[in-house]
Amino acid sequence: MTEHPITDAFAAPRAGSDALRFLRAWAAAPLVTGAQLPSGRQLARAMAAAVDPAIPGVVVELGPGTGIITGALIARGVAADRLVLVEANPAFCTLLAARYPGAQLMAGDAYQAPRALKAAGVGPVAAIVSGLPLRTQKPRRRQCLLLECLKLAAPGAPFVQFTYFYNSLIPVSDAVIASDVSPVLWRNLWPARVWRYRLHRRTQT
Ligand SMILES: C[S@@+](CC[C@H](N)C(=O)[O-])C[C@H]1O[C@@H](n2cnc3c(N)ncnc32)[C@H](O)[C@@H]1O
Repeated sequence: MTEHPITDAFAAPRAGSDALRFLRAWAAAPLVTGAQLPSGRQLARAMAAAVDPAIPGVVVELGPGTGIITGALIARGVAADRLVLVEANPAFCTLLAARYPGAQLMAGDAYQAPRALKAAGVGPVAAIVSGLPLRTQKPRRRQCLLLECLKLAAPGAPFVQFTYFYNSLIPVSDAVIASDVSPVLWRNLWPARVWRYRLHRRTQT
């Protein structure tokens, strides 16, 4: 996983060109890209609303793509220099680097992120926000990612994930994880729900 600070000038996301970028990325690697289009504004805002900017620490975004949720997080009050963006697609990494100066970019596999973050001494983690296409991974791997991320997180900090499916894509034991979910966001293509997971306090060490 390569790490470098983002220093280029800010450029606001442009919906039309981002749709084209996504279509291209999806045609080249559908399972990694996970969607033909970036999330819409309603979903991006709902993801950001699940984060409390007052919790101190970094906000880790897994699979930021072209950065629509990143922009919503900044609009919510998370300063760009609190963001750690973990993205596998090199073209999206280049775009994110140009758009979000001050954020830290980790180009690579989000499933390696907990170990990389720990090794780099990044933290405390105030929230993990994920747009990863989880269906391409085995349920056990999804669950491991959730637990490894939450173990890095500050008490009460959430792991936030959207899904186009009605049920949680991460199998969770109610004894370990508390979860809540948004209503269906019908204005997104495809309609989606936002899940928020937290470790029960007694589980957090
Ligand atoms: C469904 S798109 C969501 C993009 C963006 N968050 C949004 O809502 O528009 C999934 C994103 O996750 C990235 N991705 C998929 N697997 C990944 C992995 N293992 N590590 C890092 N990024 C990954 C894809 O390249 C893509 O940018």
